[in-house]
Amino acid sequence: MALVPTKQILEEARKEGYGVGAYNVNNMEQIQAIMAAAKETQSPVIIQASRGALKYSNFTYLGYLMKAAVVENPEIPVAMHLDHGNSLESVVKAIDLGFSSVMIDGSLMDDGKTVSTYEYNVKITRSVVEYAHARGVSVEAEIGTLGGLEDGVGSGKIHLTDPQEAENFVKETGVDSLAIAIGTSHGAYKFKREENLDFDVLKKIRSLIDIPIVLHGASSVPKELVDNMNKYGGKMAGAIGVPIASLQEAIKLGVSKINVDTDGRLAITAAIRKVLMETPEKFDPRDYLGPARTALSELIVLKMKAFGTAGHAKDYAPKSLEDMKKLYTVQVVEKMD
Ligand code: G3H
Ligand code: 13P
Ligand code: ZN
Repeated sequence: MALVPTKQILEEARKEGYGVGAYNVNNMEQIQAIMAAAKETQSPVIIQASRGALKYSNFTYLGYLMKAAVVENPEIPVAMHLDHGNSLESVVKAIDLGFSSVMIDGSLMDDGKTVSTYEYNVKITRSVVEYAHARGVSVEAEIGTLGGLEDGVGSGKIHLTDPQEAENFVKETGVDSLAIAIGTSHGAYKFKREENLDFDVLKKIRSLIDIPIVLHGASSVPKELVDNMNKYGGKMAGAIGVPIASLQEAIKLGVSKINVDTDGRLAITAAIRKVLMETPEKFDPRDYLGPARTALSELIVLKMKAFGTAGHAKDYAPKSLEDMKKLYTVQVVEKMD
């Protein structure tokens, strides 16, 4: 089983009505923590690397660490996903590394900041779909933009997804899953006071499209993690995320993939801060990376239970080329120049 196209993981989730977390990774401890949680809860899992994370690791290092997760956990369906790819070139690199799915974020121009035109988004997404599907790889695209400007990802402005545009986009591109904007942002400062998601937009989109829906910027920014950050010398005022109850509502209304990066960063950094503050004599990286790995794993276990992923690890990987071909039945319906 092991490496599974994301399309399959998400279609299973949709059928059964649960959500699957897609957890961002940069290093070995994060990957191990997420896989330990998946094993403990018997959950399918999506591990995702942003294009920034791949660049940071010179591509091969992170790619091989992610492959190790697949090899080490044969009973867990794992997808290796490129998060926020922004060009065919970035997608090709990920596919060469063995990723089973890619995101093409054509909602922004390739400067990562300027909001793109609909036509640009359709064109780049379609070229990625053609390349990826021919290689058995699933494609996520985005329509609408999130708020929050995190390390070059995001325009800083929220443009909620237009449901009609979403419907047309899916038909014109043949994409496998669609990231939508309903009010979330990347990072730890998502809302001014409290969560404010537009579930009506979500319902409308769900009624118009028949592929899995993805929610980016879905970290909950748990208060205890922020408190620990601040207690051990950090500085985070006014951080607010998406409450778990809102994510559960979103799952009920049709969201299948829930992107989480910030919460993992918080769990890790709070644990490292604690060790370094309480035991300043320590200097072996394992003395703080070990507890950080444990803290992240505990957090992911909670998420897997809350999203309903727990207990759904079963063998549904394609067994042959024919199975794989059947997976990608969505055709590009309209040709563009
Ligand atoms: O969606 C953005 C993720 O949090 C990835 O962030 O580009 O800093 O790796 P990054
Ligand atoms: P958070 O910043 O809310 O964790 O979102 C992560 C994300 O969307 C990765 O693509
Ligand atoms: Zn994102």
